[in-house]
Amino acid sequence: GALWVASADGRIKGFDWQARDDASFKELMTRNGWVDVDAPQTYGYDGNEVKVKIVLASEERNEFFFPGFIDTHIHAPQFPNVGLFGSSTLLDWLETYTFPVESGFGAQADQPGGTDKLPNDAPLSALRIYDQVVARTLSHGTTCASYFATVHVPATNALAALCHSRGQRAFIGRVCMDNPDFCPPYYKDLSADDSVSATRSTIEYIRGLDPKGTLVNPIITPRFAPTCTRPALEGLGKLAAEFSPPLHIQTHISENTNECALVKELFPESESYADVYDRYNLLTKRTILAHAVHLTPDERNLIRQRDAKISHCPASNSALGSGIAPVRTLLDEGITVGLGTDVSGGYSPSILEAARQACLVSRLLGHTTSFCQKGDKHVHENGHADKPIIGREKLSVEESLYLATRGGAAVVDMADDLGGFDEGMIWDAQLIELGSVQELSEKPLDMRTDGAPSLVKAGPVGNVDLFGAETWEEKIHKWVWSGDDRNVKAVWVAGRLVHSKS
Ligand code: GUN
Ligand code: FE
Repeated sequence: GALWVASADGRIKGFDWQARDDASFKELMTRNGWVDVDAPQTYGYDGNEVKVKIVLASEERNEFFFPGFIDTHIHAPQFPNVGLFGSSTLLDWLETYTFPVESGFGAQADQPGGTDKLPNDAPLSALRIYDQVVARTLSHGTTCASYFATVHVPATNALAALCHSRGQRAFIGRVCMDNPDFCPPYYKDLSADDSVSATRSTIEYIRGLDPKGTLVNPIITPRFAPTCTRPALEGLGKLAAEFSPPLHIQTHISENTNECALVKELFPESESYADVYDRYNLLTKRTILAHAVHLTPDERNLIRQRDAKISHCPASNSALGSGIAPVRTLLDEGITVGLGTDVSGGYSPSILEAARQACLVSRLLGHTTSFCQKGDKHVHENGHADKPIIGREKLSVEESLYLATRGGAAVVDMADDLGGFDEGMIWDAQLIELGSVQELSEKPLDMRTDGAPSLVKAGPVGNVDLFGAETWEEKIHKWVWSGDDRNVKAVWVAGRLVHSKS
């Protein structure tokens, strides 16, 4: 079959390679000469449990289209701190690394709650960093991202404007943090009212930029329970519900055990961490909860009832020593899960890396004891709470790719539009090149007495070596374990080319 993409709305109209004369298809496929239209075919690769569909672009060069990645949790202003976290854990990391870097996104004159809201009122450094963030994530195939910005209105609006102009689908959240007992004096909202009114101001700006929310949408963003007062949480819950449909909401939950203890102390009237959000109508079907490492069975039940979504951030959870989220349990219980990079708790802007890390940490989960909680289905299948079934927790490569695409689409409540190549879906896609089969040395035992450096032979793109015997299933596995942005040749959002390698 071939692929038609309507140029007007960027939606996939069908697969039929025979119909290559279709003008809009031809325009898309040949734009800038990206795609070899001579050898195209659809390749439906059915993994064990999850269907991963690629569309072959060049058999010889091992090029294929893959749905764009969806990053359901990323902090744009933390990019300057990528790789910098020492051996900190969440609460001291926030204080030592994160609040300082985020506080630099406001101009001198721009106190939180100030009246400025135009992007150009933000410091130039903020604009430059945000521009780099959008370019960098696009280059890794992220076609849709749910961003945390900072408390600053102009810089938050600038991030929205940059996503809009570069063509990345995005949810943009102005971070709310008004609790003076937790937030540093140099980086906080002035009051609960200020949290709400400054958020409202970014919503108005973003709605003005993209009235129909075709590409860029606001998202209500209480940073997490410890940074927010009760009136702020209440006001933000009400603000989300003012709109029709209600606005998306994002926050953090149960990332770290010290954080969980702190929430218990700060909100003694609540039954649980999840209940804090639920009390203020912040647990909705459009809510993205990042981390969810240490949820109790009751909390998972509440989250499932509310149909709130979870962003699994495995690289961050390992880097900050937070723990391992029990993704299999979450999925088994019917909770929707996607992947997040959580830059800069996470060290990588790549959702391919997040997929890889999701596989890796799932293989370690059975070796930990903390996940054996009373009521966990997967623990009790054999009737022994103290004997976890090692193995069931493992995520397959196909499942991790599912989380990176269709799972993420469901997390941002766009499962009908994004995450796959079904007819009627939007063409948010990446063209992946693995390269051709590697040329091998003719004399591998030659001792190279001439002292010439040992060069990697021609053929591979980036780190993926192919030797010719691989099936397509195996090529996809090699991509997930060894691939990176060097394999991303081009990226489209809604049919528009938004990144190309050369
Ligand atoms: N909890 C509150 N703020 C943050 C943040 O910026 N990153 C992470 N990973 N967790 C948080
Ligand atoms: Fe985070």
